[in-house]
Amino acid sequence: MGPSAAALALLGLWLLTADPPWCLGLDLKLNEAVELNATMPAFKVDQDDTYLCTSVALPDTEPLQLVGFQPLSSKEVVHHMLLFGCDAPASQDKVWQCSMQPACAGGDHVMYGWGRGADAMHLPPGTSFSVGPGTAVAHVVLQIHYMGKRPEKDESGVRLSLTRQPQPLAAGMLHFASWFSIPPRQPSHHIDNRCCFNGFEPAEGFAFRVHTHLLGRYLHIHAVP
Ligand SMILES: *[C@@H]1O[C@H](CO)[C@@H](O)[C@H](O)[C@H]1NC(C)=O
Repeated sequence: MGPSAAALALLGLWLLTADPPWCLGLDLKLNEAVELNATMPAFKVDQDDTYLCTSVALPDTEPLQLVGFQPLSSKEVVHHMLLFGCDAPASQDKVWQCSMQPACAGGDHVMYGWGRGADAMHLPPGTSFSVGPGTAVAHVVLQIHYMGKRPEKDESGVRLSLTRQPQPLAAGMLHFASWFSIPPRQPSHHIDNRCCFNGFEPAEGFAFRVHTHLLGRYLHIHAVP
């Protein structure tokens, strides 16, 4: 996501001023939580180890702030889920197979990732992803990697918590993988994977995750000041 990983905006400022009485109704509406489920619809697939994608259109009537994610899944069924924000999904189908393919037409950015057994994520107070009209995110695409065969009544997905209340800080995700090779016949091989933020806006990290596939045995992360 590069430079947009963090940005400051003062959109919320007017809300901090004293409310004239006529604002009360508006405030109630602003504070109302909006919930949206992005879940995987039924789709016939026979093989194990599939990647399925589905897209969910966000309301196009007003901009919203995405402030939390709750997984609706279990580690017995799902290896991982990724939620992408896009202008338009890569496919018009309700569900499509999406192993190693982009989730969005045009650019995509990951807003949430769930690895086996992880918890819900609520963004720090005052922080959100802006979605809907006037933003780059009109749709979310949910990608699910199923380990074995997908159970018949599976409704895995992510519950999104949204609010109308503008938030002063923009959330972003920086993802990073490095290219490396592992020499043959080694009992173990250490790989350093360094990541960096070099945008011009001030950014503060609040959550980190590391991930490996089959050959990973031990993972470690530390911050270099
Ligand atoms: C989202 O899914 C959860 C769990 O299946 C359910 O309890 C909740 O009512 C759903 N919310 C909406 C807005 O559909």
